[in-house]
Amino acid sequence: MEFSIRALSPEQVKTGCLVLGVFKDGGDAGTALTRAAQGADRAAGGALRAALAQGDLPAKAGSTLLLRGVPGIAADRVLLVGLGEQKEFGAQAYRDALRAAAGALKDLGARDAAVFLADLKVGRRGLPWNVRQAVLGWRETFYRFDQLKTQKKAPSPALASVTLGLVAAPVTAAAQHALREAIATADGADLARTLGNLPSNHCTPSHLAEEAKKIGAQFRLEVEVLERRDMEKLGMGALVSVTQGSREAPKLIVMHYRGGAKRAKPVVFVGKGITFDSGGISLKPGADMDEMKYDMSGAASVLGALRALAGMRAPVNAIGIVPACENMPGGGASKPGDIVKTLDGQTVEILNTDAEGRLILCDALAYARRFDPEVVVDIATLTGACVIALGHVATGLFANDQKLADELRAAGDEAWDRVWQMPLWEDYQEQLRSNFADMANIGGRPAGSITAACFLARFTKALRWAHLDIAGTAWRSGREKGSTGRPVPLLVRFAMRQAGRKD
Ligand code: BES
Ligand code: MN
Ligand code: ZN
Repeated sequence: MEFSIRALSPEQVKTGCLVLGVFKDGGDAGTALTRAAQGADRAAGGALRAALAQGDLPAKAGSTLLLRGVPGIAADRVLLVGLGEQKEFGAQAYRDALRAAAGALKDLGARDAAVFLADLKVGRRGLPWNVRQAVLGWRETFYRFDQLKTQKKAPSPALASVTLGLVAAPVTAAAQHALREAIATADGADLARTLGNLPSNHCTPSHLAEEAKKIGAQFRLEVEVLERRDMEKLGMGALVSVTQGSREAPKLIVMHYRGGAKRAKPVVFVGKGITFDSGGISLKPGADMDEMKYDMSGAASVLGALRALAGMRAPVNAIGIVPACENMPGGGASKPGDIVKTLDGQTVEILNTDAEGRLILCDALAYARRFDPEVVVDIATLTGACVIALGHVATGLFANDQKLADELRAAGDEAWDRVWQMPLWEDYQEQLRSNFADMANIGGRPAGSITAACFLARFTKALRWAHLDIAGTAWRSGREKGSTGRPVPLLVRFAMRQAGRKD
């Protein structure tokens, strides 16, 4: 699907579907037209108001009403979208309206659409924000994962091109930049979604490595893949211990994107790539275990973010590191009580083989030091406890540097891919005490996501480092089960801000 931005008169656009916003307000029939809708209504001799006067558009933000054959208007169809109360109009209502419009367009035969919502005032946010949200919301609504169904259900939507029409603002260079960033970000998020949704018998560590190489070839990234023997030789005892019970070959994927100044230190993203987490010998209960195919969502977001940055030629140096393996029980699997030596020399007593994410990450984080990073951010579906703490709305944020935490928080707010900071206080460290090694890999039930982060903190003392626990935000369960593509938008926005591209 192609996107463009143009200053246009709504009534004159020859398009399959004209999309216009309507506020719920005190005016005619309890509605108030946006500026674009007013213009169109005038050209149509009041036909839009007349339709609304019959009370057809329910008041709720995100409801839609489709009109055909409106006189005086060049478009084949007009889709009216409810925006809710004008004085309550904000980010949520704007996003709902866009998704509703996209959802309605999915079921129409229109090949193109002109959407007049992007120049609405959404709080203190400007046109670039509106444009990014429009493209990302639209693309998410149109995302499908049906590659493993032999009978693809509905035919593909006909919609091939979307114009974001402006009546209240000119098309600025910043808006064009935002459009390019959003399209690349949506490509990255789609990639992350598809890798997440692919089951573990398809999305193996080798598959992740192949995908990384494909992106590398397409966007001229340098991609390096370390094999089990390389990990052993380096001394990554923790990472190797997790893969021991599996027949799938582990991979440590390293991707380099060089878009910044030669001497500019890189932003390093480290993504947890457990392609299936059975728990290992500390086997998980059976209910919903299928969802542990999503335990590589951190890895998927790293591939997605690098693809996005490369796709938009972002002026930044970025490195992606993905430790990828399965966590399985088996004759060779590590057992509770086993002690392993990590890449940086510290020893760990594995009291629970299901706390495997931190084991692969600690070696990957120690490995990251060799790239002399500006900052390191790891992304991991690390703890069920994080889902209990923050639900499915906010990603858990931990950092050993408050400025970095503030930057991630700001990037998350800008991308509407939000995070919430949790403490990383020394007080929690004692929960990781072990009688037999430098530390245990679990800290007991209280504050499970914090002690997991505290474990990682022991390997990142020499770095400006942050950890994102995406256990609650990387996928949805139930009827709408599927990957969200988060936190690709956050990572991209963060990297862009690092390069000085703030809103
Ligand atoms: N991948 C899981 C975390 C997880 C569980 C994410 C459920 C999303 C939903 C992780 O490897 C894990 O098993 N963590 C354990 C840690 C515990 C053994 C200390 C957990 O959260 O139960
Ligand atoms: Mn686990
Ligand atoms: Zn896991």
